[in-house]
Amino acid sequence: MSKVFVNIGLSLDGYMAPEGMDLEHWEDPSYKNWGAKWGSLMGWILKQQYFRENLQFGSGGETGPVNDMLRETMQRSGASIMGKRMFDAGERSWPEEAPFHTPVFVLTHEEREPWERPGGTTFFFVNDGPESALQKARNVAGDRDIRISGGADVVQQYLNLGAVDELEIALAPVLFHGGRRLWENLDEAIPQFKIDSAHSTPDATHLRYVRV
Ligand SMILES: NC(=O)c1ccc[n+]([C@@H]2O[C@H](COP(=O)([O-])OP(=O)(O)OC[C@H]3O[C@@H](n4cnc5c(N)ncnc54)[C@H](OP(=O)(O)O)[C@@H]3O)[C@@H](O)[C@H]2O)c1
Repeated sequence: MSKVFVNIGLSLDGYMAPEGMDLEHWEDPSYKNWGAKWGSLMGWILKQQYFRENLQFGSGGETGPVNDMLRETMQRSGASIMGKRMFDAGERSWPEEAPFHTPVFVLTHEEREPWERPGGTTFFFVNDGPESALQKARNVAGDRDIRISGGADVVQQYLNLGAVDELEIALAPVLFHGGRRLWENLDEAIPQFKIDSAHSTPDATHLRYVRV
């Protein structure tokens, strides 16, 4: 059966997004300095050739082990699940050819028709909860895996369901002191993980945990 994996970037103090990085201030990255903070969280990925090509940022970039990890993450993903706030930000910033190339299930209270993009990404809007979104993702993923893309709210829900087999975190050496905190709203009995691999670079430590 498909594995369910989380793959995210995290600040050293446990935030997935800085304070001020919201739709209201999307056009003003100087607001609470959110643009620079996001850049420092994601600096490692912006350098990678695979990421740059996928987001149509231009050619060039690093081609080492971190780039290989990004390619493997994409190749293993048969479907993604995300929250509406992550989608709202992406809808404004992803290129027309959205960078998933699979079905994407967006957890939301908003009813909306599927949104098909060139390049194989279709966003489906799911109103009946995380278990339903996961089943829908399983139905289309085939033998590939299901990526929980974020944000914090959605990752927390899948951890609480005990549905996460693997947790991949790029831990960046930055402190946000506020924002969207990952480690909250968690039930006491979330599954235990063991460290599967760790790869250090000056920009981030790439940690991979698997369920015990
Ligand atoms: N660091 C990273 O790797 C990373 C990855 C992804 C995202 N992010 C960032 O994280 C931030 C967003 O995270 P977030 O925690 O604020 O929000 P989120 O998880 O992206 O979305 C939360 C929203 O999704 C909808 N939703 C979630 N669960 C639902 C359910 N069970 N039923 C119905 N609707 C549901 C609700 O919106 P509605 O009620 O409006 O429908 C909810 O307010 C963004 O800034 C994004 O850029 C960072």
